[in-house]
Amino acid sequence: GTAQIGVTGLAVMGRNLARNFARNGFTVAVHNRTASKTRALVDEFGDEGTFVAAESAAEFVAALERPRRLVIMVKAGEPTDAVIEEFAPLLEEGDVIIDGGNAHFADTRRRERELRERGIHFVGVGISGGEEGALHGPSIMPGGSAESYESLGPLLERIAAKAPDGAPCVAHIGPDGAGHFVKMVHNGIEYADMQLIAEAYHLLRSVAGYSPAKIAETFRSWNTGRLDSYLIEITAEVLAHTDEATGKPFVDIVTDQAEQKGTGRWTVQIALDLGVPVSGIAEAVFARSLSGHAALREASRTLPGPTAAPLGEADAARFADQVEQALYASKIVSYTQGFHQIQAGSEEYGWNIDLGSVAAIWRAGCIIRAAFLDRIRGAFDTQPDLPSLLSDKQFAEEIGAAQDDWRAVVAAAVHQGVPTPGFGAALAYYDALRAERLPAALTQGQRDFFGAHTYRRTDREGSFHTLWGGDRSEVSTS
Ligand code: 6PG
Repeated sequence: GTAQIGVTGLAVMGRNLARNFARNGFTVAVHNRTASKTRALVDEFGDEGTFVAAESAAEFVAALERPRRLVIMVKAGEPTDAVIEEFAPLLEEGDVIIDGGNAHFADTRRRERELRERGIHFVGVGISGGEEGALHGPSIMPGGSAESYESLGPLLERIAAKAPDGAPCVAHIGPDGAGHFVKMVHNGIEYADMQLIAEAYHLLRSVAGYSPAKIAETFRSWNTGRLDSYLIEITAEVLAHTDEATGKPFVDIVTDQAEQKGTGRWTVQIALDLGVPVSGIAEAVFARSLSGHAALREASRTLPGPTAAPLGEADAARFADQVEQALYASKIVSYTQGFHQIQAGSEEYGWNIDLGSVAAIWRAGCIIRAAFLDRIRGAFDTQPDLPSLLSDKQFAEEIGAAQDDWRAVVAAAVHQGVPTPGFGAALAYYDALRAERLPAALTQGQRDFFGAHTYRRTDREGSFHTLWGGDRSEVSTS
């Protein structure tokens, strides 16, 4: 075979990825279950590079140079297993199967193990950036063996997005499921970012009394500062858009029920298993799920709320500045939580993930790309064992400077009855982390009272139990 890479599964993501490889000078074998899609790709985009259209699985495998590199771009879940089973028997030792879908990292771990036993490398790759990213340069998060990255890395580096300093947004994340795990957390952070932006919008609309167009303008100006990011940029576009049919703001005619395909939910499920408090991401997932409970919301519409007047014009402008502070501070917390989860996953599974390089490859191409990520990269590069992003001097200073406004915004939201679970959870996390004493001591006392679950003391080693039902003397249980 002559093709350096093959792509099977030519829906929009697969097609665009194949075109990206071809546009970068690679010979690309393309294959799809229904061959008409393969032909359509070559007919339409054949002049962009060198494609080898394969009708059958055998033809596809034969078209690839050895060791074969075969990218699967099908729906995550059973379709992925089916395609692996179709191709694996045709492959030889040392060949590499690459799964570019949004797979669950536990599936990736299983597939990697099974294929390794058959002498085949399996690389689970997180790819972010949507359709446009796949075509023009995504952020790429490959897991799998170091050996497979040696063969695959140079190709991925060519097609990946380039950060402002020119570095390609791809790095070998770690063994087996590490790449898909990091992509999963990327999406969790994406949910949190989106929720925080939505809360900022809701407050500007309901408390400051701004129109969608004015909020678009506000976001555009925020986008020139420290919040500079793709999600803020597209939010301004969406808010400025007018519905053609009605002439109303687009955002007013869309059903307000957010959907999800599952990666944010996975992030929270796994965080619960790992014991990592990703409260901001969890609130973002819950906010989407609450929005979708139409009947429950309908039944609750008559519940009383506060009677508070929106702000006057002068106060509104000041409030908008405070919302920017609250948004930025909450965003720092989301990333703190997300990176904590990556750190915990890395320890649990022995992945040895370099957090600085994760931040580095999120600087361009992906949905959460932002100027901010270069600063996170800097923080982890300066101190790779940073206990938390909030321990970084600069982030600590910034969040400290934002806190008064952050509190004022959460207070205003509470007073005015505007739900801001993201801002609120982030602030609670911040306050809990910095607290000298938490009421967890009381929780321990309760547990010891009803279940003799024991507690530790601040002044002595060991574990203890108080005889709550007896004379309330303390016994050592260790
Ligand atoms: C990306 C996106 C991508 C996809 C999400 C959408 O990084 O390119 O995250 O993976 O658009 O899965 O997720 P929801 O449908 O769950 O919002």
